Amino acid sequence: MEQQKIEALLGEMSLDEKINQLFQGNGMFYEGESIATGPVSAQGFTEQTIRETGSVLSIIGAETVKKLQKAHMENHPHKIPLVFMADIINGYKTVFPIPLGQGAMFNPEMAKTGAEVAAKEAAASGIHVTFAPMVDLVRDARWGRVMESTGEDAYLNSVYAKALVEGYQGEDPKAPGKIGACVKHFAGYGGAMAGRDYNNAELSERTLRDDYLPAYEAAVKAGALLVMTSFNTLNHVPSTANKWLMRQVLREEMGFDGAVISDWAAIEEIKNHGAAADLKEAAKLAMEAGCDIDMMTTCYANYLKELIENKELDEKLLDEAVLRVLELKNKLGLFENPYKDADEEAEKELLLCKDHRKKAKEAAKESFVLLRNKKMLPLKKDEKVAFIGPYVEEKSIIGAWSVFADEADAVSVKEGVKNLGIKAIFAKGCDSLAPGETIHGMNKKYTNNRSKADAEIMLGEAVDAALKADKVVLCIGEHMAQTGEGASRADITIPKHQKRLLKEVARVNKNVIVVLFTGRPLDVRKIKEVAKAIMVVWMPGTEGGNAIAEVLYGKTAPSGKLPMSFPYSVGQVPVFYDEFRTGRYYDGKPTENRFLSKYLDVPNKPLYPFGYGLSYTEFSYSKVKLSADCMKSGEEITASVKVKNEGRREGAEVVQLYICDEVGSVVRPVRELKGFEKVWLAPGEEKEITFTITEEMLKFYDINMEYKAEPGKFIVYAGGCSDTENAAEFTFG
Ligand code: BGC
Repeated sequence: MEQQKIEALLGEMSLDEKINQLFQGNGMFYEGESIATGPVSAQGFTEQTIRETGSVLSIIGAETVKKLQKAHMENHPHKIPLVFMADIINGYKTVFPIPLGQGAMFNPEMAKTGAEVAAKEAAASGIHVTFAPMVDLVRDARWGRVMESTGEDAYLNSVYAKALVEGYQGEDPKAPGKIGACVKHFAGYGGAMAGRDYNNAELSERTLRDDYLPAYEAAVKAGALLVMTSFNTLNHVPSTANKWLMRQVLREEMGFDGAVISDWAAIEEIKNHGAAADLKEAAKLAMEAGCDIDMMTTCYANYLKELIENKELDEKLLDEAVLRVLELKNKLGLFENPYKDADEEAEKELLLCKDHRKKAKEAAKESFVLLRNKKMLPLKKDEKVAFIGPYVEEKSIIGAWSVFADEADAVSVKEGVKNLGIKAIFAKGCDSLAPGETIHGMNKKYTNNRSKADAEIMLGEAVDAALKADKVVLCIGEHMAQTGEGASRADITIPKHQKRLLKEVARVNKNVIVVLFTGRPLDVRKIKEVAKAIMVVWMPGTEGGNAIAEVLYGKTAPSGKLPMSFPYSVGQVPVFYDEFRTGRYYDGKPTENRFLSKYLDVPNKPLYPFGYGLSYTEFSYSKVKLSADCMKSGEEITASVKVKNEGRREGAEVVQLYICDEVGSVVRPVRELKGFEKVWLAPGEEKEITFTITEEMLKFYDINMEYKAEPGKFIVYAGGCSDTENAAEFTFG
């Protein structure tokens, strides 16, 4: 529809109709399935609100969507279609690894493929917009939602933000098989104090701009149709009421012209935060701040009219918001084609099809991070291996946010091993939850009803299995529901009863390989003490078991690198690689000097840093070479490094480029990731990787809050991990 027509349509709409266009409810008001992730405040809804609603969430299925859309348009005074939105995070029915695992792939193209698959499947089921990507920078492993992010680095997150938006939306979100992207949670949600979900974030404007905002901006620049506000207060202001954040930073500075949607009930929560006396004030603040759509509360529906009629709120603001919602519908092509790609036949053909499963398996394989390997892996087909642990048969491996997928479709480790035609010993040893334990997942409850006595028998069987085997592959970790929204943890080790299994198995078999399922970086010291190999497999998705078996048996070498540091202990958290030097830098060597920036009881460094990960082969690096040792403003130089596969197997290495700005008008991080390239190398093969260093890469918010590069010395590092010392220097300016 032409812009003029949209504007004319807006002009024809009554005040009520316009207000109702901004309401978003879920399936409880209609037919069909939906999930609730927060309080549902349905008081005060009128039939009219529902009849004139602008969008809905979590209603899926081609048949349902078509029926609902048809009825809605028939009843709507201006026949305006609904937008169907849903959380399609790491997949719809075919599930890819959780986003943190996708970060570990260091392969944004593959993440883009995942988003394309998710979009195709979701579109066939009638979904128009996904609440993804989530690009919150995360540094605190206690926070359950780190699983939804691609990690602790601003650059890595930005590259993924762009790739994911492009994957969902393609060139044009209107096109068949494409859906709109909604980047979230704006802003700084990942800075939740003490890692507790929904907690406040205290971030200086410089930290916000240098570290947290780039990924949202990358998504906006890639054309994301929507932005979602965050639950947290940012420097004391609830994000959903933050006019500076949305009107100045997002719209003026980043140039975002799409619609802003509140997170679930976040407008009402302005009152809970204590920043509004009542819901009417909350509605006024959110509207003035620039939040267009009210997800799951009655604030706009109930109070905007009164506010406008009493001249407490300018109707112009409402008109702007409604126009953006209408424009969203237009960008999705819904005025011409309200059902978009909803198609039962396409659902049958696409959901969980062979091609999608294959892609999900490839992604899972690339997401695994080998932390340790004392000549244990890969396994040989003729070795006697016992696969032990709760995750041997577990199908809850698709990640907490895969709310529309069916766990039963996932391939377990046992199935994966059998699919390779390998005869192994299998024993459960224990359940993922302790006997009697219950955990509430995103959309279902998990309970372990096994008695303690039966649990003891199972443990005994595992020890027997371990005794019979040459090697034990111990599949352990957090329960899938122990991460995700509302799943913060203060203890980031594996559950106690699984520690016992580890201890008992390791007592009788010294060749223990731990396959670790997790949604967050864990403190793995206890595991490292007894396991000769550790491979992190995150929540690997639908094809998890096949991917794990193929990597364990060496069909593909692991190639993931940590997108988030694995702390030495929870006491270090938040711990991340791009920290500051401090005035009393401690280099980690034994010292009698008390007055250094360090702990008495744990090291400063994480156990495994950002960018770390092993392969089944080894790589060597040549010294990093710069094309020039000085660079003037507006110029570029290159940094080159040769990487060679020194082993006898094929493998992939992620060559990482870091830059350190030695002296700044404000303190600069010890180093920052500025580029990476993943290369697969045959045995003995060598490749030269060349990165271009631009002035843009040297920029930051200086002492006057100006975004620019300062003259001075820069150190360039290139290697296979964030702690590489392979360096060269140049001067800028
Ligand atoms: C989450 C969002 C999600 C929304 C809709 C909220 O609880 O914070 O990430 O998109 O629910 O389901």
